[in-house]
Amino acid sequence: MYCTQPVTSDILFVGASDRRLAKFENVFPIPRGVSYNSYLVLDEKTVLMDTVDKAVGDRFLENLAHGLDGRPLDYVVVNHMEPDHCATLGELLRRYPEVRIVGNAKTITMIGQFFDMDVSGRCVTVKEGDTLSTGRHTFTFFMAPMVHWPEVMVTYDGADKILFSADAFGTFGALNGNIFADQMNFERDWLDDARRYYTNIVGKYGAQVQALLKKAAGLEIACICPLHGPIWRENTEWFIGKYQQWSTYTPECRGAAIFCGSIYGNTENAADILANRLAEKGVRDIVLYDVSHTDVSQLVSEAFRCSHLVLASATYNGAIFTPMENLLLDLKAHNLQNRTVALIDNGTWSAQAARQMGDIVGAMKNMTVLEGTVSLKSSVKADKREALEALADTLAADILK
Ligand code: FEO
Repeated sequence: MYCTQPVTSDILFVGASDRRLAKFENVFPIPRGVSYNSYLVLDEKTVLMDTVDKAVGDRFLENLAHGLDGRPLDYVVVNHMEPDHCATLGELLRRYPEVRIVGNAKTITMIGQFFDMDVSGRCVTVKEGDTLSTGRHTFTFFMAPMVHWPEVMVTYDGADKILFSADAFGTFGALNGNIFADQMNFERDWLDDARRYYTNIVGKYGAQVQALLKKAAGLEIACICPLHGPIWRENTEWFIGKYQQWSTYTPECRGAAIFCGSIYGNTENAADILANRLAEKGVRDIVLYDVSHTDVSQLVSEAFRCSHLVLASATYNGAIFTPMENLLLDLKAHNLQNRTVALIDNGTWSAQAARQMGDIVGAMKNMTVLEGTVSLKSSVKADKREALEALADTLAADILK
């Protein structure tokens, strides 16, 4: 049965949430689910803004049919061709043979790659700044390559000042009745997932997100309709500000995120001692993660949030402990930069992890490794406790300066 909500007097939310999928893109855990948003504009012409993942395809098609209420579907705007938004495009085209596809040249090529259907006679190919008038609404298309794929574009509705923002301004998390950010405590309940979504999905593409934000700055935006998560019709500047920070790799807080990779608990002991000394020296809101237990997507998100990172790793096979190496390679892949790092390693016969972690961090942009790396031999002894105290002094002074 259909399940829709009005966004405005003539725009209907026709998307749906998936609470069964364990991992988004088969890699990111989503214990709170995810929503696939789709919007139906009921103007003189009818316009659908994107489709949905096939997991919620049946509900979406019911919602769409209900919204149209017997009217034809004139246009489907494809802002993004990733299958979480386009897996149902083929079925949509079969059910609505008269619909015209609005997309850019790259979009049209990708439709041919994903589907075995000839859409050549059904496409309206748009480029930067092109418009589509449907009656009261005039939609303008802005290209947003690599936010998150090369064909991504966003659509601006000049009538109601709405930005249909594709993946930008999205978040993990199913929608639970409330579809607007102002109907929920977003900062308390959603920001962590929004950050985890941003950093892991488009974190690598800060420059491209910056380019989109510059375009958005030239628009009057009253409402942001993303393809995942709640709609923003209030306080849009707050969320845009977060994107400004994330896309410039600017930490949200001066504080320490401690990541430890420990096999038998001795490296963790060192990380714990350091955390406690930092607390005594006035550092607040310290977070400490065992990299073997917390999903790497959360660790990446926390590294984007905090100004100072502590990497404490056992040596394993003459190298960095595997989960820590995985984290570091993920941070590098996501282009993390502008952070200060302290290193701790451990090796019963040959500690190698700190040097190798330093090599990876050194290959990242604008990263500072603090003096005073602590290298354990098996467990923390009195001299290493002193070394940890000294490292805490250096780290706390840098955080609190
Ligand atoms: Fe939500 Fe890049 O797809």
